[in-house]
Amino acid sequence: MKDRILVKLKEAYPDCISGAQLAESLGISRVAVWKHIESLKESGYEIVAKKGRGYCLEHPEQAIIPVLISENLADPHWGTPVFYTGQTQSTNLWARQLLEDQHLPEGTLIIASQQTGGRGRLGRTWASPRGGLYFTLILRPALNLKNASLLSLVMAVACARSLRQHTGCACRIKWPNDIFIQGRKVGGILLEARGEMDRLDYVIAGIGINVNLSSQDFPEEVRHLAVSLAMVAGHSFDLNQLLVSLLEDLRQDYYLFLQKGFQPFREVYQEYCIHWQQPIVVNTGKELIQGIHRDLDVNGSLLVETADGEITSISTGDVQLISYQEE
Ligand code: BTN
Repeated sequence: MKDRILVKLKEAYPDCISGAQLAESLGISRVAVWKHIESLKESGYEIVAKKGRGYCLEHPEQAIIPVLISENLADPHWGTPVFYTGQTQSTNLWARQLLEDQHLPEGTLIIASQQTGGRGRLGRTWASPRGGLYFTLILRPALNLKNASLLSLVMAVACARSLRQHTGCACRIKWPNDIFIQGRKVGGILLEARGEMDRLDYVIAGIGINVNLSSQDFPEEVRHLAVSLAMVAGHSFDLNQLLVSLLEDLRQDYYLFLQKGFQPFREVYQEYCIHWQQPIVVNTGKELIQGIHRDLDVNGSLLVETADGEITSISTGDVQLISYQEE
């Protein structure tokens, strides 16, 4: 019922709807409407009651409404079941907790409007204020651990390509799976897998995209490194629509990868990668490796040519560009 109220409020925007109108169209009492509205406000939806006019949903493009996601997805097994909350520590953590108690099928979607302890790669934090997309997909691919690294590259291609197509922003990739625009980070992917080396049990694929955030929304220490789609495009995006298009593209690319492997993605990855054939420094956590990024190996590891002409393969780490030039 709450979703239906939200849909009505969103459809009415920028107008208001009275409690009586809502009650009549939904076949519930005005008191029930009021109770639902109060509970929606507690969950973080910006609903204001205007004197003599009724209820109005402020910033409707920021309001994640689960039913608007599920009913617009083409495949009933992708994006369902959906778990949504206004605020959680981390959708990846929530996914893990849910998986402890129940079997969640492939395609399960876990989403929050904001995270209080968003997690990034290499033990970093992920700033997750309201206005971004923070979601996790449960995947159950018949892959071994090595192929899971390729999956993380495929997801980067899927996100960058999808965001390009649906926002017009020139998204690119920093290895392995950071989404960049104009030299700043706009999105990231955190894959956490469980299972044996040769057969994964499940993958928790967490994706964070800075959508409608302004510079002030980022913590000061990352402000010069981060950007949002709205900052680049000059206007905001409807979070539900953007999520639906992302999920559709992720589904198609995921199944293509399971069928055909990384080959169909290789060329696009290379085209989008901001440091292909460029001088880089990679912090592996143990050492700094400086050289020219030459290629990827069959497992998606970075092949770097160092000053002595040797090729080093790097499977995990953080890439820094020595000089960055946007094409
Ligand atoms: C990175 O470091 O680039 C990865 C960032 C991944 C952030 C997303 S937001 C949804 C999911 N929940 C988390 O706590 N992290 C991921």
